Amino acid sequence: MNEGVQKYVDRAKKMLAERERYIKEEVKKWKFDTIAVHGAYSVREAIENNQGSIIEPIYMSSSQAFRDSDEMEAALAYLIPSWTYSRIHNPSMGYLEATLALLEGYGFDGETSCCTASSGMAAIASATDPFLVKLGKKHDEAINFVSNAQIYGGTFQQFNIRKMRDRGIECRWVVDPNDIDDWASKIDKNTRFLFGELPSNPGLTFFDIKKVIDLAHENGITAIFDTTIATPVLLRPMTLGADIVIHSATKTLTASGFGMAGAVVARKNITSKIDNAEMNADFATYIKLLPNRDIGWCISPMQAILTLNDMRTLRSKVDQLSQNSMKVAKFLDKHPKISTMNYLGLENHPLYEVASKYLWLVDSEYDDQYGKPVNRYGHLMSFQFTGGAQAARIFFDNLKRIWRATDLGRIKSVATIPSISTHQQMGEDLRSMASIPQDLVRLCIGAEHPQDMIADLEQALSKI
Ligand SMILES: Cc1ncc(COP(=O)(O)O)c(C=O)c1O
Repeated sequence: MNEGVQKYVDRAKKMLAERERYIKEEVKKWKFDTIAVHGAYSVREAIENNQGSIIEPIYMSSSQAFRDSDEMEAALAYLIPSWTYSRIHNPSMGYLEATLALLEGYGFDGETSCCTASSGMAAIASATDPFLVKLGKKHDEAINFVSNAQIYGGTFQQFNIRKMRDRGIECRWVVDPNDIDDWASKIDKNTRFLFGELPSNPGLTFFDIKKVIDLAHENGITAIFDTTIATPVLLRPMTLGADIVIHSATKTLTASGFGMAGAVVARKNITSKIDNAEMNADFATYIKLLPNRDIGWCISPMQAILTLNDMRTLRSKVDQLSQNSMKVAKFLDKHPKISTMNYLGLENHPLYEVASKYLWLVDSEYDDQYGKPVNRYGHLMSFQFTGGAQAARIFFDNLKRIWRATDLGRIKSVATIPSISTHQQMGEDLRSMASIPQDLVRLCIGAEHPQDMIADLEQALSKI
């Protein structure tokens, strides 16, 4: 390394040490809400780097200028914190990643890092593909991974078609994720990771996540979870030992509905079968700086700040949305035209107990209103009709205020019929394996007054 490059590296070390100190000694001591509002964006950073801007700026620039060739060389070799080119990094992206890493790592006694992506699907691909590489001739044919079958339709397609059919990487489906022996029986020497989505979209499957994490680690493999529906307000798998967490940040994290975003958050030093020290030491930073740089599924700076801005009130929003949803779920549960009601907060739901073990409103014990831990179950539910698929369609077509769309996680209530939308491409047989009947309607309740949503549901049900 020449002297000039060394000068930049030494300067960067000082800056990094100060940033680390700030996070460790100050930010990590804050409550969830304070972290959601400020993240790692400090007064010092605002004044020194951003003309005092109290809100994190949107850096729309494609690239960063360098003082001289030494600084450019150091930056491109990733020797100094820099952003270089917005496909790799960008300050606005960095503000979102720092906040998400802190929120997902809240209550976890270790370091976490985050890599954002252009969508939840890009996040899933970037979190899983680095494990699906060839380790040598011996293992070439048999790479596999294990996933619960009740997952978002797009994820199912990515696993079933893109990975399994197109690349010959086997996805082994666990149909009852509460059967830990089923997970165990599917693991062999060529299994690279266990993947779980919980609560699942749209069926609201839930399982004992700690048992699945422990099973993965007993077998020396990575435990990856998609907790989009829970958000870090209700479930933070890293606190239970998980390695990697994925979010479709398009959903409740960006409840306003302004755009697409994804995130991968990982703990440092993950359990992994892959012999790649750099990757295992800091997975999220690794994928950001190497594979994702080469593939290019980055988030835009505008989107990063839109998502960050929505996340500042995440805890109170998820609390309110959950409470509204509970009222709506209780109404639907009692309605004679509804045959099956899936909402994890209903005491008669078969998964109520296991969900209640894990879904807690973060920091409710510090809240004057509660003063103790309280369960919350999010704003997604689904249900079936005594009148079958035809009744589901009549009901759906008659909704007046609730939007018909393939979407969830919104501040506005939205409904869909998964078998003809989000899960259409799976086909009837695979939908049956994943428990997605034709008469299933998925409903995600927003921040409207629940009485108004109940009135809309009631009038639509009366049309059947
Ligand atoms: C649980 C879950 N994971 C991942 C995704 C994919 O996210 P995106 O639509 O942001 O690509 C979705 C989308 O609905 C989802 O519900």
